[in-house]
Amino acid sequence: MYTQAMSVGPQETAAKVQSVEEAQAQQAFDARIDAGDFIEAKDWMPEHYRKTLVRQISQHAHSEIVGMLPEGNWITRAPTLKRKAILLAKVQDEAGHGLYLYSAAETLGTSRDQMLDALHTGKAKYSSIFNYPTLSWADVGVIGWLVDGAAIMNQVPLCRCSYAPYARAMIRVCREESFHQRQGFESLLTMTQHGTDAQRAMVQDAVDRWWWPSLMMFGPEDKDSPNSEQSIRWGIKRITNDQLRQKFVDACVPQAALLGVTLPDPDLKWNAEREAHDFGRIDWDEFWRVINGDGPCNRERLAARVKAWDEGAWVREAALAYAKKQAMKEQAA
Ligand code: 3HC
Repeated sequence: MYTQAMSVGPQETAAKVQSVEEAQAQQAFDARIDAGDFIEAKDWMPEHYRKTLVRQISQHAHSEIVGMLPEGNWITRAPTLKRKAILLAKVQDEAGHGLYLYSAAETLGTSRDQMLDALHTGKAKYSSIFNYPTLSWADVGVIGWLVDGAAIMNQVPLCRCSYAPYARAMIRVCREESFHQRQGFESLLTMTQHGTDAQRAMVQDAVDRWWWPSLMMFGPEDKDSPNSEQSIRWGIKRITNDQLRQKFVDACVPQAALLGVTLPDPDLKWNAEREAHDFGRIDWDEFWRVINGDGPCNRERLAARVKAWDEGAWVREAALAYAKKQAMKEQAA
């Protein structure tokens, strides 16, 4: 079961102001946040702000790394050399995103080893979406279109996150995610416009399976989101879970029409009054089951990460031994 080693409880929320200096620092921090300033790693920040960022950024980093697994599964089976090269590059990009994000989180004083230990022992979360299986080649296209599409929707506002090292990392991540989304859409368009009936059916089946889990990526409804209010006040999150989900649904409807696929929601319809689409109820029981460790692939995903870490021990040891040798050589010179 997942627990929250890095979570922050209500007792920490009511940050204890212990000295005049701290009270002044807090005031100055609040004023900077209100003015829309960015906070840098060495600036004073409340402990709860720091822990919230470590929680969110490390979970985000874990999502990128675990997110390599479902698609990596298809690298050897990509239908053409072109698709294989694109998929390889994309999966490699996700590894790079994980590394920028671990580095951003490290600036807050938590080591990469601590973050990885939290992942490997099931104490840290990663995105629910990566606990679903990739059953056909169309899943790879749908992950690009919907999963990377949802990620961009969520992550573009993070380029304006009040914590500058995270905001800076997100700029490059978003550029690359945008390429990922387009390659997925283009791959699906090729199948629906130039493919066989069987390929079109394969695309529809993948859309049917990934649509609802993609909507869950934005997190619980605002009324059930314990972190949103404070994170918005601090400028960590700029847009709420429900607002982002709505923007995503509205963006996907015309794209689905272009692809010629049906989104699997009988309640999905345009609401002229709201100027937005109404959509059906998300299965929140499924969402909580998955994020609490009981999704279709949770155990498999975690086991794969732990195995990779254990099997990579010799690489880490060799790199450390080499660095030590170099340092000794430099000292002797
Ligand atoms: N999967 C797993 N856990 C989720 C989740 C999801 N889809 N949505 C919410 N949660 C968790 C939260 O982490 C929180 O748990 P915690 O308090 O124990 O940490 C709990 O559910 C309640 O949710 P909140 O809405 O209160 O939490 P947040 O304010 O942190 O909002 C979030 C959740 C919108 C996911 C936010 O953390 C966020 O924007 N994170 C950065 C982006 C990110 O992590 N994206 C991962 C997507 S995949 C990806 O980027 C890879 C790419 O290659 C596709």
